[in-house]
Amino acid sequence: MSETTTDPVLVEFERGVAFVTLNRPTKRNAMNPALNVRMLEVLDELEGDDRCGVLVLTGAGESWSAGMDLKEYFRDNDGKPRAATLKARRQSSGWWNRLMYFEKPSIAMVNGWCFGGAFTPLVACDLAVAAEEAKFGLSEINWGILPGGNVTRAVAEVMRHRDSLYYIMTGEVFDGRKAAEMGLVNEAVPLADLRARVRAIADTLLEKNPVTLKAAKDTFKRVRNMPWDASDDYIYAKLEQMLQLDKTRGRDEGLKQFLDDKTYRPGLGAYKRD
Ligand code: ACO
Repeated sequence: MSETTTDPVLVEFERGVAFVTLNRPTKRNAMNPALNVRMLEVLDELEGDDRCGVLVLTGAGESWSAGMDLKEYFRDNDGKPRAATLKARRQSSGWWNRLMYFEKPSIAMVNGWCFGGAFTPLVACDLAVAAEEAKFGLSEINWGILPGGNVTRAVAEVMRHRDSLYYIMTGEVFDGRKAAEMGLVNEAVPLADLRARVRAIADTLLEKNPVTLKAAKDTFKRVRNMPWDASDDYIYAKLEQMLQLDKTRGRDEGLKQFLDDKTYRPGLGAYKRD
C-alpha cells in the first residue's frame, strides 16, 4: 500500500490492526473529494489484506474530522452542473456505506474535533471510543443547512430522540464524556489512554472467529429495521450462510472444546482457534 506524507489517508499495520488515519491535519481532516476517493480505495485494499483483522479509523493531529470540506465539497461545486454535486455526494457516501458493512470489525478512535458529516462514518464504524477531550458538534444549523449526508439518520440510529433534536437544533458542542453518555460512542477515556484502550478492544475482537463477527454485526445492523417475522427468517438464513462460509467449522470446534475436551467455557471467553 503506497504511503506518502501528502496522502489524504495513511495506513499503518500493527499486530492484526490497520490504523487508518484521515490525514489532512492542517484542514482538521475535513473530508474533500481526494480523501473520499482514497478512503474507498483503502477499504477495498484492506478487505483482502490479512494484516488487517480490525480496522481502526482515526485522524491526524488534533482532529478526528471537521466534517465535509466546506470549500472543496460545497463552494467549489456551486455554479457547476448538478452532476458535480451528485458526484461529490457519491464519493463520500460510497465509503461511508462500505464502512457500515465492512468485512472486518471497525472501531472509530475519536481523538479530537468531530463535526457534521463526520458523524456518518463515526456511526458506520461498529464501535467507537472517544477521548474525553474530543469535541463533537452538529454545526450545520449554525450556517444555514440541516445535517445531510445521512448525518440526521446516523444520529437517530445511536442517540436518543431528545438529545438528537437538542444538538441538531442548537449546534452546541459537546465533549467525549457526553458523547458516551448519549450513546454516540461506546466509551470515553483520557486522550493519553485512547490508543491503548482501542488496542485492547481490537485484541479482544482478534480472538473471535472473523466469519462469525462479520455475520453477527451485519445481522444486528440489518434486523433492527425489519418486522419480527422477517427478522427471524433473516437471522436463520444468515446463520446458515455463516456456517457454510466458516471453513474452520468454528461451531463444531467450540462444541467439542466445551462438551468433549472440557477445555473451554463459553461464558469466559472465545474458544481456541488454530
Ligand atoms: N472545511 C474546510 N476547511 C476547514 C474545515 C472544513 N470543515 N474545518 C477546518 N478547516 C480549515 C480552516 O478553514 C483552516 O484553513 P486555513 O488554515 O486555510 O485558514 C484550517 O482548517 C484550520 O482551521 P481553524 O478553524 O483555524 O482551526 P481551529 O483549530 O481554530 O478550529 C474547528 C477547529 C473548531 C474544527 C474549526 O475549524 C471549525 O469550526 N471547522 C468547521 C467545522 C464544521 O462546521 N464542519 C462542517 C460540518 S457540516 C458538514 O460536514 C456538512
